Amino acid sequence: MAIKSLGEHLKNFFYEEKKSLLANYPGLTLHRLKSDLKLHAFLNGVDSEELFEFPYLPFRSNPITLFFEKLKEGVPLEYITGYAFFYRSLFKVTSDVLIPRSETEILVELANSEIQKNYHNKKCIVLDVGTGSGVIALTLMMEDFAQLDVTAVDISEKAIILARENFFNLRYTIPAKHNIHFLISDRLESVVGSFDLILSNPPYIKALSDRESVHHQVLSYEPAVALFLEDDTYDLWFQEFFKSIYQKLNDQGISLIEGHEDHLESLSEIAKKIGFSAVEIIKDYTNRNRFLRLKK
Ligand SMILES: C[S@@+](CC[C@H](N)C(=O)[O-])C[C@H]1O[C@@H](n2cnc3c(N)ncnc32)[C@H](O)[C@@H]1O
Repeated sequence: MAIKSLGEHLKNFFYEEKKSLLANYPGLTLHRLKSDLKLHAFLNGVDSEELFEFPYLPFRSNPITLFFEKLKEGVPLEYITGYAFFYRSLFKVTSDVLIPRSETEILVELANSEIQKNYHNKKCIVLDVGTGSGVIALTLMMEDFAQLDVTAVDISEKAIILARENFFNLRYTIPAKHNIHFLISDRLESVVGSFDLILSNPPYIKALSDRESVHHQVLSYEPAVALFLEDDTYDLWFQEFFKSIYQKLNDQGISLIEGHEDHLESLSEIAKKIGFSAVEIIKDYTNRNRFLRLKK
C-alpha cells in the first residue's frame, strides 16, 4: 500500500465519507476540515508548515487518527479540537457547555451598542445569566467603550470552571479596567446587587414539542441543561426569570435575551405584564425572531 500524505488522506476521506459527513456536519467543507485538523494537530503538539505534506500513518497512537475516528462518529468538530471560534476569539469548549452559535454574536453586538450609547467612558454593571463557556461576558470585556463590572452566572459548576479558564486564557485581550466574577446560580437566585445591563442566552427549546427540529448531532452531544426546558413549565420559567430581571435592573436598565423564534411573541406578552416600560422583539440575520429587548 502506497503511503499517502496527510493532505491526500484528508481529501480522500472527505470525498469518500462526504454523504455521512454532511449529515452530521451540515455545510462542512474540505477547507474547514483542513483548518480544524491543523488546530487539532497543533493542540496535540504537531506544529508544522508542512503538516499536510507529511506521510500519514493511521496508527492508533497517532493523535491525528483520533481526529478521523471522532469525525466518523459524528462528534462536533469543536468538541474534537476542544475549541470554538466566537466573534474574534478562540474559546475552550467541552461537552459540558454549548458550542457558541453565530446568532449569539448578534446579542454581543446589541449589547455593545447599548454600552457605547449609554455608558461611554462610564461604568456599566453587567450580568450574564447562563454564561456557559463565557463567550458573551468575555467578548464584551474585550472592548474598551466603558468600564465593565461583570457577573457571570451558570447553574452548572462545570460551565463556571470552564468560563473561568477561558477568562484566564484570554486575560491579555481584556483591558485591565474591567472586572468579572463568576457564580453558580439558578437564574438570578444567588445574585446580589443591581445591574445596568442583563444579558442571557438561556436554554429555550421545549423538550417535547421542539425536539423534532433539533439536529441529531446537537441532541447526541450537547448538554441538555443548556438546551431544553420542560414544555409545561416553560412560560412559568420565563415569567420567574423576567420578574427577577425586572427586580435587579437599575432604572432605565436594559435586558437582552436570546430566544426561540416560535416562542418570543408569547414571551414578550409575559414580559409586558411584568411592567417593563418597553418590550421589543429583534430579528436575527435570517429574519427570524431571535432576541427580546426589555427596558425597565
Ligand atoms: C444556551 S446555553 C448558552 C451558553 C453561552 N452563554 C452561549 O451563549 O454560548 C445556556 C446556558 O444556561 C445554563 N443554564 C441552564 N439553566 C440555567 C439556570 N436555571 N440558571 C442559570 N443557568 C442556567 C446552561 O448550563 C448553559 O450554560
